[in-house]
Amino acid sequence: MKRVRKAVIPVAGLGTRFLPATKAMPKEMLTVVDRPVVQYAVDEALEAGIEHIIFVTGRNKHVIEDYFDIQPELVDTLARSGKEEQLASLERMQLPAGSISFTRQQAPHGLGHAVWCARDIVGDEPFALLLPDMLSFGEKGCLAGIMELYEQTGGNVIAVEQCDPTETNKYGIVGKGRAVQGGFEVTAMVEKPAPAAAPSNYYINGRYILQPEVFGILGTQERGAGGEIQLTDAMRRLSESQSFHAHHFKGRMFDCGSKEGFIQANVAFALARSDIRDLVFEPIAEMIGSQARRNEAA
Ligand code: UTP
Repeated sequence: MKRVRKAVIPVAGLGTRFLPATKAMPKEMLTVVDRPVVQYAVDEALEAGIEHIIFVTGRNKHVIEDYFDIQPELVDTLARSGKEEQLASLERMQLPAGSISFTRQQAPHGLGHAVWCARDIVGDEPFALLLPDMLSFGEKGCLAGIMELYEQTGGNVIAVEQCDPTETNKYGIVGKGRAVQGGFEVTAMVEKPAPAAAPSNYYINGRYILQPEVFGILGTQERGAGGEIQLTDAMRRLSESQSFHAHHFKGRMFDCGSKEGFIQANVAFALARSDIRDLVFEPIAEMIGSQARRNEAA
């Protein structure tokens, strides 16, 4: 079984659900507590043993490249003013030279097309895919859990969580087959099925390990739902010849591409941080308490 060394992080989407904030600022650079959303995805990939990160960027996304670069003037200024803690935080996030690549999706033709744009850099080996606006919250990152399952099963592995059964039409849904440790065999993949037609309420949560044969399928693919090249369609075709397993993620994924998910993520991550928790807990609890009282009175 080939080791998974590379991770693709697509960041070329338009982020229309978060306008006007995303008119000039990529949604992947919106901050949860004190770091951009994309930093959490990179940390999760490194925690899972990934050695090379491939960003698929697009127009108006150059700030993401700058973010992962060294800023000599800033480093000098912090060093001269003795700001050791801030300096250390910059050093911690610095990826080794040569372990980060950028390619470009010239127009946002969909997630499947963004993944396809990384084909030459990935080459002929399995790779991880992380959608950075889906923010993993839990003791262990979601990708580390997928890796464990991949070591048992090989093939393709995707992470899933359960959604409200009435909301299957918002997600890519999988069918549940034979159980394996930490997950199950995938028997079907359907993009946004109506609740009555859904094979289960397990939805694909934005973390994948895929075999390189997916690129061949994406390259020949017709546009699917919404006129975009859909990754789920390509995975369904790949599942005709290769195994797919689902890792049941026991943490929680926040959809930071939506306003409500982003706000919830900020609260959850702030309350989980020992340096911030005491500063924000009481004011947040007070605001929630007074809103609850207003709701009751209404
Ligand atoms: P989303 O569908 O959540 O991103 O894609 P979006 O299209 O930017 O969002 P909305 O719906 O308009 O608000 C998930 C991930 O895939 C990337 C996005 O940047 C995001 O990280 N993506 C999506 C691409 O890189 N290219 C695309 O064509 C579409």
